[in-house]
Order: sequence, then structure tokens, then C-alpha cells
Amino acid sequence: MKIVFATNNAHKLSEVSAVLGPDYELVTLREVGITEDIPETGATLDENASLKARYVYERTGLDCFADDTGLEVEALNGAPGVRSARYATEGHDFAANNRKLLAELEGKSNRSARFRTVISLIRGGVEHRVEGIVRGMIATSEAGCGGFGYDPLFIPEGHDCTFAEMSAEAKNAISHRGRAVAELVKVLGR
Ligand code: IMP
Repeated sequence: MKIVFATNNAHKLSEVSAVLGPDYELVTLREVGITEDIPETGATLDENASLKARYVYERTGLDCFADDTGLEVEALNGAPGVRSARYATEGHDFAANNRKLLAELEGKSNRSARFRTVISLIRGGVEHRVEGIVRGMIATSEAGCGGFGYDPLFIPEGHDCTFAEMSAEAKNAISHRGRAVAELVKVLGR
């Protein structure tokens, strides 16, 4: 099955295609001629996922899906949440975001957090939404060089290393995005 995934993020693309497997051929934004940044002006992850998927559907008429992910930290009342990409600066500066997160949590004993991914799928013009969550803790310093974003700081529940220290397969098996994609497969298989 051919389907547009509303991203140009190579990490996301490889994570999602690994979980979806060979039955699905993912088409990127660039491949359908969408080169501009899609506005992510929603107040929630759900809204942003929908905005992105609808944007692609309106321009291409093709079946498509978009994801939006946030890191929700308990001691920060759910921040950075929907602002995860632009936490420290307006750019997508992963290193600055991680530095800011460590600074905000300095001296705080509650380091519980969760990643949440919302996927909006538009198939045959009908929208479906699924989500995936992984709970864990924010480490006191960065570790590992795999993955992207907040991975060097996120220790998933039941593990003693960060996502950035895990193989891509191990991360996908338990991650927010892996779980959301597993739900997506259930909808696509209906
Ligand atoms: P997006 O809106 O789905 O691109 O995600 C927003 C931000 O959340 C990204 O810029 C990353 O900083 C962070 N993020 C999303 N997914 C992950 C992940 O799997 N690991 C670590 N950080 C992530």
C-alpha cells in the first residue's frame, strides 16, 4: 500500500517504515512536491497532527498520515508538550532544547515524563486518529548518540539506559511512535 507520510525527517521516516514493514511504501512530502514547512499552529498535538494531514490531503487528494509528538514532563506541568520542537529557540535545536530541559529540572526530584505521539490518518477522505505513549524519566545528563531530539535524556520505564543508547529496533519496539504506528496498522488493516 502506497501512502504519504507528512514528514521530511529522515529519522522519523526510517523509524516508521521499520515498524510498518514491507507492505507499505511511504511517500515523503518532497516526493509529492510539498517543500514548504506546514504550519503547526495548533494548541495540542491532536490539532497539529490533523492540520498537517489535512494540508497534505487538500493539496494531493492522496491517502496520507501525519504525526505530532511531544515530551510531557510532570514537574513542568506537561511542558515542553506541543512546543517540544521549539522549546529553547524557534529553530529545531535539539542540543539547546536538551540543555534547557536539564536546567528547568535542576534540583527537582520528580523527573517523570512521557512521550506522546498522535497520528492523524486520512484514508478515502475520512480522518482517523491514533496515539502512542511511553512513560519514563528524564536523566540528569545526556547519554548515547542514537535517535534524535530528547532521546539522550529519556530513560524509558523498565530500562536503565536512554533511548539514544538503545538500538533503533529496541527503541521502536517500545516507543511512543512505534506504539502509535502499531495502532495505525490496525486501522489500515480494517
Ligand atoms: P514532531 O512535532 O513530531 O516533529 O516532534 C516535536 C519534537 O519532539 C521534535 O523536534 C523532537 O525534539 C521531539 N521528538 C519527537 N519524537 C522524538 C523521539 O522519538 N525522540 C526524542 N525526541 C523526539
